[in-house]
Amino acid sequence: MSGLKHGEFVGSLDCGTTSTRFLVFDKYADIVAEHQIEYPQYYPEPGWHEQNPDELVESCEVCINEASKALEDAGWAKESVKVIGITNQRESTVAWSRKTGKPLCPLIVWDDARTKNTVAHFERKLQLEGINVHGRIKKGEDAIEALRQMSGLPISTYFSAIKLRWMIDHHENVRKAHDEDDLMFGTVESWILYRLASNGDKLHITDVTNASRTLLMNLNTLEWDPALLDFFGIKSSVLPKIVSSSEVYGELQSTVLKGVKVAGLAGDQQAALIGNKCLRQGEAKCTYGTGAFLLFCTGNDVVLSKHGLLSTVAYKDGATGKPVYALEGSIAVAGSAIKWLRDTMSLVSTAGEVNTLAESVPDTGGVYFVTAFSGLLAPYWDPGAAGLLIGLTAYTTPAHIALATLEANAFQTRAILESMKLDSKADLKHLMVDGGMTNGDKVMKVLADIGGFTVIRPEMRESTALGSALLAGSAIRLHGWDISKPETLTEVNTKGNVEFVPNMPEDAREKRWQGWQRAIERSVGW
Ligand code: G3P
Repeated sequence: MSGLKHGEFVGSLDCGTTSTRFLVFDKYADIVAEHQIEYPQYYPEPGWHEQNPDELVESCEVCINEASKALEDAGWAKESVKVIGITNQRESTVAWSRKTGKPLCPLIVWDDARTKNTVAHFERKLQLEGINVHGRIKKGEDAIEALRQMSGLPISTYFSAIKLRWMIDHHENVRKAHDEDDLMFGTVESWILYRLASNGDKLHITDVTNASRTLLMNLNTLEWDPALLDFFGIKSSVLPKIVSSSEVYGELQSTVLKGVKVAGLAGDQQAALIGNKCLRQGEAKCTYGTGAFLLFCTGNDVVLSKHGLLSTVAYKDGATGKPVYALEGSIAVAGSAIKWLRDTMSLVSTAGEVNTLAESVPDTGGVYFVTAFSGLLAPYWDPGAAGLLIGLTAYTTPAHIALATLEANAFQTRAILESMKLDSKADLKHLMVDGGMTNGDKVMKVLADIGGFTVIRPEMRESTALGSALLAGSAIRLHGWDISKPETLTEVNTKGNVEFVPNMPEDAREKRWQGWQRAIERSVGW
C-alpha cells in the first residue's frame, strides 16, 4: 500500500493457554495494532488438557497476518515492525519428529494432571534408588533437596520433564522416536520458532526462562543437567539448545512479516515481570487471572525457598549476560472465586459488581473465606485443604461475602510475599499488578490494605506482551532500550499508573491477618 507512514515498532507474539495474540507496540508501549484468537482446547479424559500443536502454529500465523493488516489500516507500513519477541504458556510440552517435522502426539498443557502416577514413580525412585549427583548417590530427603538445588523445582505434574516422560511411556511412536534419536522436545516457544523461524538452519532452541520450568535445566549452570536427564531417563538428543531471553535468534520464514528478526523469548509470567519493569531485586509483580502468579525478582543470586516457593530464571540479557532470578508462588483461585460468586452463587450479575457490593460495607463483619476450591498452593501446599466460609452470623450479607472474597485474594498474596521476603531477605518495593481481576478499584484497595504494601496498576496492562517486546527491542537496542539498564526504559508505559497505598490502620490489618491464620489452620489438613 502506498502512502503509508514508517515507524519503528516491536511486535509481540503471545501464545497463552487459551488464546494467541500479536501486538505491535511503539516506543512508549502504546499499542498500535493487535489481533487475538482463541484456539481449541481438548479435554479427552478427566484431568487431561491437550492442544493441537499445528492449530497453535496456525493461530500464530493468523494473528501476525491480521495484526499486520490492522497496522496498515491504521496507516503504518508493515515494515515498521523491526523485530519481534515471543512469549508463551510455560511448561506445556510438544514432541515432534526430526525427520518429518510433524508432531508425534497432542501437546500436553501445563495444568494437565494425567501424570500423577509418573510423579509417584519418580518420588519413589528418589526414595529408593536416589539420584546420582557427580558420582554420589543421594536418597530420600537428600535427593529431594538435591533435585531442588539443581532445578529450583519439586517433582510435580506441572513441569515438562514429567509430561515428556509420560509421552515416551504412553505413545509408541514417541518411544520409538526417542530410541532412534528422531524425537525433538520443546516447550511452546521452541515449537513455534521451529515452525515459523530460521537462521538458515532449522531452529531448535529454548530460552532460559522456559528451560527453567522443565525440571531438566540446572539453575546455576543454565545447561541441561546430565544428572536430571539420567534420573528422568531422557536422552540429550531430544533437547533444544538453551539461549538467552534477548538476542537475535533468526528470522520469520512465513507470514506477511517474513524476514523480520525474532529477538526476544520468555515464558509468559517472566515476560509479565519484565513488562512491569520489575528487573531488580525486591521488585515484584502479580498477574491476577483465573489463578494468580506472583514473581519476586531476587537479582543475580538463585534463592532457594524454605517456604514452598519455586526458584526460577527471570531473564538473561544476551549470550554473555548474567542471569537474573526470581522466586515464584501461585494462587490457584483468584478471578475464578469471583466467577463462582457470579455464575454458581448468583450473588452478582457481573464480575465488576463484586467491587460495588464489597464497597458497600466497611468490613466483612468477621467473615473469612478460604477459597480452597481445589486445595491450596503456595505457601500452604495442601491439595486437600478445605474451602471454608467461616465467621457467619445472622448479620452476614452478600456484601460481607463479596468483601471476604476480595480479602481472600489479598491474604494469599500477602502470605506468598511474606515467604518471599523471608527467603530472599529483601524487602518488597511495591507490587505491580495486571490481569483481568485488577480492573476493579476495590480489589486493589483491599490488596493494599490487607497486604500493607503499595500496589501499582499500570493503565496499559498488556504486561506479558510488552515484556517480550522489550526483550526483543533491547536485543537490537531499538529506541535505546537495554533490559539490563532499567533507566533506558523510563519512557515506556508510564501513562496512567494508579497507586493504591495501604489505608487500613496497622492494628486492624494485623487483627484481620491473625483471623486469616486461624481460618487457614481450620482449612489446611482438613
Ligand atoms: O505456568 C503456566 C503459565 O505460564 C500459564 O499462564 O496466562 O497462559 O494461563 P497463562
